[in-house]
Amino acid sequence: MSDKLTSQYEKCDFCNKAKNDVKKLIVGDNVAICNECVDLCGELLSELANATINVKEINDIDPVELKEFLDKYVIGQENAKITLSVAVANHYKRINNKNSDIELEKANVLLLGPTGCGKTLLAKTVARFLDVPFTIADATSITEAGYVGDDVETLINKLLSAANGDVEKAQRGIIFLDEVDKIARKGESTSITRDVSGEGVQQALLKIVEGTVCRVPAAGANRKNPQAEMIEVDTSNILFIAGGAFVGIDAVIKRRAEGSGIGFGVDVKTNKDADLKDLEPDDLVKYGMIPEFVGRFPTWVSLTELTEEQLVYVLTEVKNSLIKQYQFLFNQDNVDLEFDKDALQYIASRAKTRKTGARSLHAELEKTLLPHMYSLKEYKNNKLDKVKITKDLVENPQKIAI
Ligand SMILES: Nc1ncnc2c1ncn2[C@@H]1O[C@H](COP(=O)(O)OP(=O)(O)OP(=O)(O)O)[C@@H](O)[C@H]1O
Ligand SMILES: [Mg+2]
Repeated sequence: MSDKLTSQYEKCDFCNKAKNDVKKLIVGDNVAICNECVDLCGELLSELANATINVKEINDIDPVELKEFLDKYVIGQENAKITLSVAVANHYKRINNKNSDIELEKANVLLLGPTGCGKTLLAKTVARFLDVPFTIADATSITEAGYVGDDVETLINKLLSAANGDVEKAQRGIIFLDEVDKIARKGESTSITRDVSGEGVQQALLKIVEGTVCRVPAAGANRKNPQAEMIEVDTSNILFIAGGAFVGIDAVIKRRAEGSGIGFGVDVKTNKDADLKDLEPDDLVKYGMIPEFVGRFPTWVSLTELTEEQLVYVLTEVKNSLIKQYQFLFNQDNVDLEFDKDALQYIASRAKTRKTGARSLHAELEKTLLPHMYSLKEYKNNKLDKVKITKDLVENPQKIAI
């Protein structure tokens, strides 16, 4: 063996560690591997074997059962719950389809609706029902590859982390793309300058939404390290649920409805608000979504602003509701917490005026309950074992005088 060839075997070809720095260097035909890399490969292979065994088959989802599960966590939004349940059931039918003659097309879901009406909550709850990895990605934080910010592969990487590195599991997970309306192209004309935040991002998302094989660094690996092990993740069975408020889209719908009315003798009531239920794909394109993006979300459904009555239910009825959470906190000091009906109604009506849906309930409750939480120890020492929140205590938050 020539000197040159011998020196080639002085280091591991996988991690570059010198022969003297490892216990054993195994030399093969033109390649060398150290004992540490052999161990690592062993671990990776056993993880892969376990992963295949652990993946739960999601067969035969009954949309009715899923809808009933959603009912426990999400108030109202009947239409969205039914549409989403059917879409999810069909998605898993498609994944499990063994019939090669009929290939079912992928149908990602788009949820439209004002802020705080339950879009993210719906997607999260579906993932909880299915027990699949779930990740939320803010579309506004994504940039085209090459720009500063997350690129689309980061989404897959996040999902892989949510699946604890289990590729098989990640490949059946759900990615919630939040705020997709914010990556709408600005204006209808195509801009000459490159649109980093809008159209470019939509373009970048097309491939992974439709289904492609992404190469991402293994979970936990440093992205910057060129030696990091890369893993292939197929996105074709990942369900994408997109959400967006699409502020102003009602005007687009209205304009189209009015436009099509001209000359056809159709009576369009111009002073009536456009209904999101009448949304057509073209409206989304007019809004600034590129047609290819819209085409990949064939199922869409609109959510409605919550009514005052529904906001009261959000406070009291859902599993893990805010009030149940505060009651738990009070109970830690042996104090019970109760609310008058009037008080709940008043909190809901105040929250409603803020126009941020159920999101403002938390702030309203916090403001009302702060003086009491501050005084819980005092209440306890004075044997006050119940706090009843009246409408007056919501209007003028103050501790109970002892
Ligand atoms: N329909 C609902 N039923 C029960 N809770 C709700 C509902 N809508 C919203 N909430 C509660 O309000 C909070 C915000 O909801 P969520 O994150 O789903 O809003 P969103 O529609 O995604 O809003 P955004 O457009 O701002 O992201 C959550 O804590 C959620 O629990
Ligand atoms: Mg959201």
